[in-house]
Amino acid sequence: MSKAILAAEGIEKTYLSREGEVRALRDISLQVLAQEFVSLVGPSGCGKTTLLRILGGLLEADRGAVLIDGQILTQPRREIGFIFQNPTLMPWRTVLKNVTLPLEVRGINGDANKKRAMELLGLVGLLGFENSYPHELSGGMQQRVAIARALVYEPSILLMDEPFGSLDAITRNQMNLELLRIWRATGKTILMVTHTIQEAIFLADRVLVMSARPGHIRAAVPIALPRPRDTDIFYNEEFASLYHRVRDMISPG
Ligand SMILES: Nc1ncnc2c1ncn2[C@@H]1O[C@H](COP(=O)(O)OP(=O)(O)OP(=O)(O)O)[C@@H](O)[C@H]1O
Ligand SMILES: [Mg+2]
Repeated sequence: MSKAILAAEGIEKTYLSREGEVRALRDISLQVLAQEFVSLVGPSGCGKTTLLRILGGLLEADRGAVLIDGQILTQPRREIGFIFQNPTLMPWRTVLKNVTLPLEVRGINGDANKKRAMELLGLVGLLGFENSYPHELSGGMQQRVAIARALVYEPSILLMDEPFGSLDAITRNQMNLELLRIWRATGKTILMVTHTIQEAIFLADRVLVMSARPGHIRAAVPIALPRPRDTDIFYNEEFASLYHRVRDMISPG
């Protein structure tokens, strides 16, 4: 089996705000293996976004360490792609120009950018929309642009924070299938936050369940459902029993 490409050891985080201290994370340790798909679920406000931002090097922990391929992370790295809940596209740039933006920001210009962006737009099923503007796209399409943009740097790890949270259930299911296809095609390692238990199980090799704040990893539930998966799996008995197991851990009693 492959080794841990992403690991956290003893992460602690307390926010200082005007109202006082908010202890967000308590002694978080986790490991994600290369090419693994891990979902992270937990009650609202338990610290999921905080944890993801720390893992991505976007926020500093008070204690503990994040390791990428065994090396301590101290700042954002190109091995890590981040996808936020809102696609955060630049409204005045075309789809193509949004995807090439991270390269331009780093001073990489030229025809190769366009070629790379077109390949990625093909991967996320958006060929033909490269000259459109974000407002001309549906929410699901905008999120696909954000995925293409996150992939433009060829990160090995994708951290996704409720990427499909604002989509309706049908579009979300379609995006889940798309994401599994992209994951298979690219061999990325994915850690995805979601508050939808069904989505968490459907996608993942393992579901990490967090406790209420201060967030702590309560359990790691292996998902042994066969792949490739499609949405018929929702009616499978094993799926139902996993669903109940995870749900009871999030809201015990
Ligand atoms: N910048 C900040 N300053 C102070 N407190 C913060 C800050 N960011 C988050 N918090 C607090 O830390 C806790 C965890 O927040 P976080 O956004 O990580 O939770 P979450 O699990 O992602 O929630 P949700 O499910 O609603 O997205 C919350 O109580 C929140 O109010
Ligand atoms: Mg959040």
